[in-house]
Amino acid sequence: MNLKNNILLEALPKHIAIIMDGNGRWAKQKGMLRAFGHENGTKSVRQVVEASAELGVPNLTLYAFSTENWKRPKLEVKTLMKLLISSLKKEIKTLQDNDIKLAAIGNLNLLPNTVFKELHEVMEATKNNTRMTLTLALSYGSREELLNTVKEISNKVKNNIISPEAIDESIINKHLYTQNLPDVDLLIRTSGEQRISNFLLWQIAYAELYFTDTLWPDFTKQDLYKAIIEYQKRERRFGKTSEQLS
Ligand code: IPE
Ligand code: IPE
Ligand code: MG
Repeated sequence: MNLKNNILLEALPKHIAIIMDGNGRWAKQKGMLRAFGHENGTKSVRQVVEASAELGVPNLTLYAFSTENWKRPKLEVKTLMKLLISSLKKEIKTLQDNDIKLAAIGNLNLLPNTVFKELHEVMEATKNNTRMTLTLALSYGSREELLNTVKEISNKVKNNIISPEAIDESIINKHLYTQNLPDVDLLIRTSGEQRISNFLLWQIAYAELYFTDTLWPDFTKQDLYKAIIEYQKRERRFGKTSEQLS
């Protein structure tokens, strides 16, 4: 059965964020190296990107590499960076065909030059696409993002560009890496882990959380539909009572 037919198109999340986890365990289960899991994970990326664009989800953000992932063995980091370059090269056509704009959040200056260059080329080439914004979180950590935000705002206060009294949520939003994105509506994490791992802490304040045991390389369009259907069953109260909503 195609679960797509059970989705209410008028109530889609405006921003889906995914913690793509479980590549290593997926490979291990098959007696393969972790790199094999990462390679197969890219197929799932294509599935969720296509499915989101087809449905009409305007924003999809994928956690591809965290600030903390720099602590992994050098060889694994190298493999992930290489894979990133080859995926960017390969997927530019998918992005153009589906009218998808690529964006990136994170401390991008830490990325190897080759990755940084390729990333900027694809972002430049797709900047006028409007159907969906696909944001890759790369060398991203929410605490690092918040530190960066505090520093930027402090500098503006010091230089009399902003008064301390004027600092509100919208000013903070404008200084985050995610400045152009709406809050996350639906956060998905695969592989059975039920934690946030330093992802979009400010932006998920009222997100619906969805955890699945499926390992990332096994995640398909149908799994995404399942998550969206579950999301649509939830009552988002934002602090109000159920009666106030109806
Ligand atoms: C997610 O899979 C990919 C990245 C974090 C880059 P993992 O590599 O974390 O896989 P597990 O959690 O070890 O199975
Ligand atoms: C989170 O996964 C980061 C990404 C998916 C890119 P990790 O595998 O790094 O998270 P922990 O270490 O299990 O919390
Ligand atoms: Mg993991």
